[in-house]
Amino acid sequence: MTWPGIIRAYADRIPLPEGAEVVTLHEGGTPLVEAKHLSQLTGSSVYLKVEGMNPTGSFKDRGMTVAMTYALASGIKAVICASTGNTSASAAAYAAKAGLMAAVLVPSGKIALGKLAQAVAHGAKILQIDGNFDDCLELASKTAAEYPVTLVNSVNPVRLIGQKTAAWEICDVLGRAPDFHCLPVGNAGNITAYWRGYSEYDQGLPKMFGFQAAGAAPLVIGEPVLNPETIATAIRVGSPASWTGAITARDESGGLIDAVTDEEILAAYRLLALREGVFVEPASAASVAGVLKVAADGRLPAGSLVACTVTGHGLKDPDTALLGLTEVEPVPVDPGAVAHALELV
Ligand code: F0G
Repeated sequence: MTWPGIIRAYADRIPLPEGAEVVTLHEGGTPLVEAKHLSQLTGSSVYLKVEGMNPTGSFKDRGMTVAMTYALASGIKAVICASTGNTSASAAAYAAKAGLMAAVLVPSGKIALGKLAQAVAHGAKILQIDGNFDDCLELASKTAAEYPVTLVNSVNPVRLIGQKTAAWEICDVLGRAPDFHCLPVGNAGNITAYWRGYSEYDQGLPKMFGFQAAGAAPLVIGEPVLNPETIATAIRVGSPASWTGAITARDESGGLIDAVTDEEILAAYRLLALREGVFVEPASAASVAGVLKVAADGRLPAGSLVACTVTGHGLKDPDTALLGLTEVEPVPVDPGAVAHALELV
């Protein structure tokens, strides 16, 4: 049977407007992959929740199916969002499916190429804003407050209802909640949603470990960052909308929110691709950089069961994947030359 998408898979837990038509691309049901190399390195059992396997290549689809179902049911004709790229790709695709217009506000020059390509392909109206994500979100919120257009950022509470399903899927596969759950944190909607998801599911509670990029770590330093900077553009957020939700997740679970450097993020990014066979975008690797950090400094006890969300697909950001690629030498059409190039002889 085809996976029905999160709304139908968890129908008893996701409230919908009366008579709503479900807008779905069959999101969710993503693989939980055993990470053998990471488990060896950390002395724990590490599993990767591979959210790049969602229809538009990121976890945003879980929230977007619910947000778009509500928007369509309300009779509105257009949706709007601010985005570092993935929310806009997801909004564009689900709006296309629903027959709604999508407007996406993105920080000029700071969105990965694959994400821009998705917004273009799905016919979204793309507005490049001369500012960062936080400026885009403020602008989108004000526009939605004054004009007939629905905001589909995670400040729209129905988005987080959808994103809780990832925690439920993990419990369903493992037979219980993990001891620790690690994930990257940007605007902080996802850590908020996971914690709510675990809290409602009665399968035990993990400690929530959130990781921000060191140049964009407002939750770690305790105040907004005016000019956030990181190679992980998806989490280049200086003033997270779900600030309180993230702190609640951290404190109620007895977890932590820490920062990882761009170097640590890139090292984890390469390790995932080269040793686990899992290609993610840089922001996603923040969770794995974090696991390695807390395992090394003793904050992750050996023998733990760890779930680590990798939030978006590596193809989203081809530029980072190709960093450091030198000229590829052409090889003559000759098996001997191929063998020579491969150093088999
Ligand atoms: N990982 C990826 C790949 C993301 O795109 C985001 C957020 C996060 C992690 C962080 O999740 O914001 O819930 O804490 N991207 C948003 C966007 C900001 O516009 O696509 P969060």
